[in-house]
Amino acid sequence: MNLTTKPLTEHFGAEILDLDVRKAQDLGGEILRLLLEHQVLVIRNQELSARDFVDFARSLGTIKPFLLSNYHHPEFKEILITSNEKVDGKPLGVARVGNFWHSDSSYIKDPANTTMLYGIKVPPTGGDTLFASTYRAWDELDGGLKVKLHNKMAVHTIRKRYKVTAADVGFSLREIDDQLKVKVPDVEHPVVRPHPLTGRPALYVSEGYTLKINGLDAQENADMLEYLHEYMTSKDKVYAHKWRVGDILLWDNPSLIHAAGPTDPNIPRTMFRITVE
Ligand code: OGA
Ligand code: MN
Repeated sequence: MNLTTKPLTEHFGAEILDLDVRKAQDLGGEILRLLLEHQVLVIRNQELSARDFVDFARSLGTIKPFLLSNYHHPEFKEILITSNEKVDGKPLGVARVGNFWHSDSSYIKDPANTTMLYGIKVPPTGGDTLFASTYRAWDELDGGLKVKLHNKMAVHTIRKRYKVTAADVGFSLREIDDQLKVKVPDVEHPVVRPHPLTGRPALYVSEGYTLKINGLDAQENADMLEYLHEYMTSKDKVYAHKWRVGDILLWDNPSLIHAAGPTDPNIPRTMFRITVE
């Protein structure tokens, strides 16, 4: 079967047309190839059970369950539920996943390449998922900055995102930070990271998780990270995915940064999420 695609932007992203993924179990290799080519894929109008979504994900590779088990799907631990809904006063899923620019799990040593979401409930406006290409960011970076950054390492950490909770009462911010450092140790990645599968260089830095670039002093780091963030996410470089119920959205983490756009907390937004190695 030949898959038909339509570009999402001039630079990256494609929609796969006329596909029911329940009938595509043998197309995993082809879909992965398209994902590596286009970086983001949209497949609209799917009607999937949780099991169907897991089967689809499995056709693309080995599923990597999310670290925290609180919000796994009750029957399928492969699925993380992201949701702002409450049932009987209890959250249905993780309320906000990634409302800052990031590449998934860059704060660990071997982050999964592919993340996919399936839209169960989506707001009529808002709640977009935003993407920017880190291939393009590297390709178009100013020559002087390329020279400065090309062989540097950067520290990535989940600590930048940590929100103090009731469990932290009685500890100083320094102590909380130190505890987190032990639980999820900081890691280093090259600033210019070759894609693990394609080898193509990408600017692997994000506002969300990059703490510092080694070899720059504190002020240089603050300036550089702010500059790169603005440069990578300027409006003309961003694809904003406007959700419809039944959308599958897949993205390639090594060649993109992404963010969940603002959404009204009172309008349900619920998705199934799976990552594949
Ligand atoms: C994620 C994520 C964005 C969104 O699930 O990793 O960043 O729009 N989600 O929900
Ligand atoms: Mn994410």
